Amino acid sequence: MASYDIAVMPGDGTGPEVTVEAVKVLKTAADKFGFKVNLTDFDFGGERYMKTGETIPDSAIEEFRKFDAILLGAIGHPDVAPGILEKGILLKTRFALDQYINLRPVKLFPGVECPLKGKGPKDIDYVVVRENSGDLYTGTGGVSLKGTPNEIAVQSAVYNRFQVDRCLKYAYEYAKKHGKKARGVGEENTLALCGKTNVLTYLYDLWERAFIEMGEKEYADIRRDYYHVDATCMWMVKNPEWFDVIVTGNMFGDIITDLGAITQGGMGIAAGGNINPEGVSMFEPIGGSAPKYTGQGVINPLAAICSAQMMLETLGEDKAAAKIEEAVKAVTGTKLKSLAAGRMGYSTSEVGDLVAELVAG
Ligand code: IPM
Ligand code: MN
Repeated sequence: MASYDIAVMPGDGTGPEVTVEAVKVLKTAADKFGFKVNLTDFDFGGERYMKTGETIPDSAIEEFRKFDAILLGAIGHPDVAPGILEKGILLKTRFALDQYINLRPVKLFPGVECPLKGKGPKDIDYVVVRENSGDLYTGTGGVSLKGTPNEIAVQSAVYNRFQVDRCLKYAYEYAKKHGKKARGVGEENTLALCGKTNVLTYLYDLWERAFIEMGEKEYADIRRDYYHVDATCMWMVKNPEWFDVIVTGNMFGDIITDLGAITQGGMGIAAGGNINPEGVSMFEPIGGSAPKYTGQGVINPLAAICSAQMMLETLGEDKAAAKIEEAVKAVTGTKLKSLAAGRMGYSTSEVGDLVAELVAG
């Protein structure tokens, strides 16, 4: 029997509540589909930081390397200054474990209210492959003359060809295996590069050349599109059905995936994976810790459940992953009144139960 060692990091605010539901569904899927999950809890987050001054020690990162995957709830605490936990926990783990892909599906599930007029589940069904190791996130830069009227701040967007190529490789392979043609819902598998070649003439020129070279050489049957990032935002609202797989740098990927999330019904449903295809990956709902809802049992656990679903897909438990997705669709399609906290018509744990029952059935 396959067996997976999973590190669970529930984190702050409503993170623990939604993680309980994700774990509930995970265990149900394991029983149903005949694999084992061994879960180990880690209490990193705001509370621990306030008690001990520790975000994530290097020893914990070393420990993470022994796991098959990490399931994260949410990081962010109202009493901790912005940046400390994000940098010290989330970004540190992403970088230390070289989780160089941030995979973020943008999928409108049945029954979910969409802010885009006239668009339905058929129209909003794509993924963003966000590069996760470079760009403005490397901390390259500095400040001089601080506090003077001439203060200078520089923060550089950094990419090398290796980072770009490995990300493109992942994106092309993803388009080949999971694109619209591969899934039987479209004529072609399409990979779109989202860049800004008209202004970032060094950075996205590198991306564009690498994108075209790899596509011509190795993926002649995948259609290539290119959009500037500003136009990407426009088309994600106006014609989301144009998209299949989008690949982009870290910063643009951060921004466009929040836009994508709102078009699929918001943070209650949006999930993502920080993936190292050769190493340990970490899965998380992409919304925050929503501290004001903590402990009320009103927060939507579907994003956390969907991140567990993505984890199973990445671990190769395709049947279990497909079943969870089907269950989530049935719950949004036939049960929930809304995805919003407090307006679902069910409590957090009841939503977890609804999904788990369908997975077991
Ligand atoms: C995300 C978040 C993080 C990011 C923050 C919290 C550091 O916005 O996962 O999208 O910018 O990557
Ligand atoms: Mn973000």
